[in-house]
Amino acid sequence: MAQPMNFDGKVAVITGAGGGVGRQYALELAARGAQVVVNDLGGATDGTGGSETAAAQVVAEIEKAGGVAVPNFDSVATLEGGQRIVDTAIERFGGCDILIANAGILRDKSFAKLSPEDLQAVLDVHLMGSFSTAQPAFRQMKEAGGGKIILTTSSSGLFGNFGQTNYSAAKMGIWGLMRTLSIEGARSNIQVNCIAPAAATRLTGGESETGSTSPRSVMPLVLAAVHESCSITGETFMAGYNWYTRCFMAQAPGWAAAENAEVSPEDVAAHWDQIRATDGFREIDHALVSMEPLKEFRKE
Ligand SMILES: NC(=O)c1ccc[n+]([C@@H]2O[C@H](COP(=O)([O-])OP(=O)(O)OC[C@H]3O[C@@H](n4cnc5c(N)ncnc54)[C@H](O)[C@@H]3O)[C@@H](O)[C@H]2O)c1
Repeated sequence: MAQPMNFDGKVAVITGAGGGVGRQYALELAARGAQVVVNDLGGATDGTGGSETAAAQVVAEIEKAGGVAVPNFDSVATLEGGQRIVDTAIERFGGCDILIANAGILRDKSFAKLSPEDLQAVLDVHLMGSFSTAQPAFRQMKEAGGGKIILTTSSSGLFGNFGQTNYSAAKMGIWGLMRTLSIEGARSNIQVNCIAPAAATRLTGGESETGSTSPRSVMPLVLAAVHESCSITGETFMAGYNWYTRCFMAQAPGWAAAENAEVSPEDVAAHWDQIRATDGFREIDHALVSMEPLKEFRKE
């Protein structure tokens, strides 16, 4: 039997932890010894409104089970809000070892009908909400000598989904933030990864507390990734339905013309098959590495 994973002495900040998958992270981290900041604005799924009930209820649940938690009701959508959320952890518990940026809303619309408001609101909560909390947490972790950050992406961002251009753009922006932050964080012992949850929650239109579709099923991968024993960084995982898998960005070998050739659009059209072929793809973990396949062609 593996040693139980313990989070004694760790401080965790979880945004959007008043319900869904965020609540599951908060309950289990607290049950395993972490001191938790339970942030939630408590609004509707489209981001309108607000209430202290959701975060307060999760804190009450944690305390009833003998855990330690404090609520925070700020919105992640502004830099000031994000700063206050992380400051709550520093002021109440003396640090911030773990950040799980999870808060989210939906404003689904087909692209032609998407209003500026529905675009901005989604970018603000997801993309700005990841920056607004990750930056103060990252600064604190740097000073403390390390930490763990999980940002929340989505299969809709990674792969696309009808009616979600705003959400997909925000979620893929978060992926880019994670990639570069993991490279910067490596110098300071800060690991940064992305989770793409799959669960029945109020956001996906069918809350379920039990079974493999419940948000609980996302939690084990996230807890394993933020435990001090895990050194994985820069990676993206889908989790839910009791299924755990990695998604990654890869590059195909492609086609290269001779170094001194003047390539025409017709040349490209004639080589679409080779340019598009995915055989022999490789995972790319740094922008500089993406030029390396060219060396193979130049060797010939
Ligand atoms: N459930 C899924 O299948 C699924 C799939 C892909 C991605 N996700 C992502 O997972 C995350 C959690 O979603 P969920 O399914 O648990 O939904 P949820 O609605 O149950 O949880 C999201 C929480 O974020 C809170 N929130 C919204 N705006 C906020 C703000 N500005 N500041 C602070 N809190 C705010 C909400 O009040 C809510 O409690 C989201 O980022 C979502 O996009 C979920």
